[in-house]
Amino acid sequence: MKALILSGGKGTRLRPITHTGAKQLIPVGNKPILFYGVEAIRDAGITDVGIVVGDTEPEIRAALGDGSALGIKTTYIRQEAPLGLAHAVKVSRDFMRDDSFVMYLGDNLILDGITPLVREFERDRPNSQILLAHVPNPQDFGVAELDGSRVKRLTEKPKEPKSDLALVGVYMFDSNIFEAVNKIKPSFRNELEITDAIQWLIDHDKNVNCHIISGWWKDTGKLEDMLEANRMVLSRAKRLLRGTLDGTTRTEGEVIVGAGTTIENSILRGPLIVGERCVIKNSYIGPFTSIYDEVTIRNSEIEHSIVLERCVIQDIPVRIEASLIGKEVRIQRSQLKPTAYRFMVGDSSLVDVL
Ligand code: DAU
Repeated sequence: MKALILSGGKGTRLRPITHTGAKQLIPVGNKPILFYGVEAIRDAGITDVGIVVGDTEPEIRAALGDGSALGIKTTYIRQEAPLGLAHAVKVSRDFMRDDSFVMYLGDNLILDGITPLVREFERDRPNSQILLAHVPNPQDFGVAELDGSRVKRLTEKPKEPKSDLALVGVYMFDSNIFEAVNKIKPSFRNELEITDAIQWLIDHDKNVNCHIISGWWKDTGKLEDMLEANRMVLSRAKRLLRGTLDGTTRTEGEVIVGAGTTIENSILRGPLIVGERCVIKNSYIGPFTSIYDEVTIRNSEIEHSIVLERCVIQDIPVRIEASLIGKEVRIQRSQLKPTAYRFMVGDSSLVDVL
């Protein structure tokens, strides 16, 4: 079996971060989301992995390389524009040949992996196996209608969902899917939908099995989902202190501090992770916070947030929370006159002030 990881797309719901970077590379628990998918695939025993890439190809290549560091072999497949998940399957035809494969959406996170699901597919040999999960907001997903244990109908982002069963972003196919993706037409959002391709399989009497998963799963397309993914990953963190913590610093619970980081006179209340070569001084870092490498935080408080590399946060009088702060951002108190807020923020940014 092979795998196909989708790492193209535009990431419009995570702007401005995605103006400058791939959404699949945003770290949760200081590890790019994409890597969790790669590890799940590798742990299921699949090593031949096609990576569908778009405009952010250089970045994705820089992060994954030939895949050997993560135990896989990567083949990059260029998709000239994000024309839909079924289009991504179309462009991977030469790579797949006639093999069965797992398709994994690069912004999805399934904490317990996919190994038993892949085994089930290999054992039962359906033409396709889909994963479903009960969600409170089915209108934001592909939605399945079941007839007993049989999949009857799949609809992409229905206005009036017929069930609360969302399609999870991990699919298994045999080579029949290539006929399906060639037969379907673009959808209301002008994309070739994998949901429609699977419906085509159903309509043409192919076997489409479904499996309702009960473990934790998230599509991290939006800020709040990203923060929740971060929370879930950190809730499994195990205490590991590598940096230098002075005598006036207090740590509580599962706290991870990377090498070369210095922490002075601060409170670190886990679960949290601070990366390498950071400086934290006179500050409070609260639960469910991931601070990436080379970040400086002074005289400030932050919790339930993700901070990317080389940010500086200093002298902020009010606690920062529920925030995703991009690379090299400075958030600071100004002594300049006149006393005023001064911003230099990118397109589609969000600034909430008191
Ligand atoms: O997360 C599960 C949902 O994923 C399913 O319930 C939906 O049925 C399915 O259509 C999909 O919906 P999204 O609207 O969330 O898909 P999104 O556009 O975010 O794309 C998912 C991933 O695939 C993302 O990492 C970007 C990548 N992608 C997307 C498109 C449209 C590509 O590589 N190429 C593409 O053409």
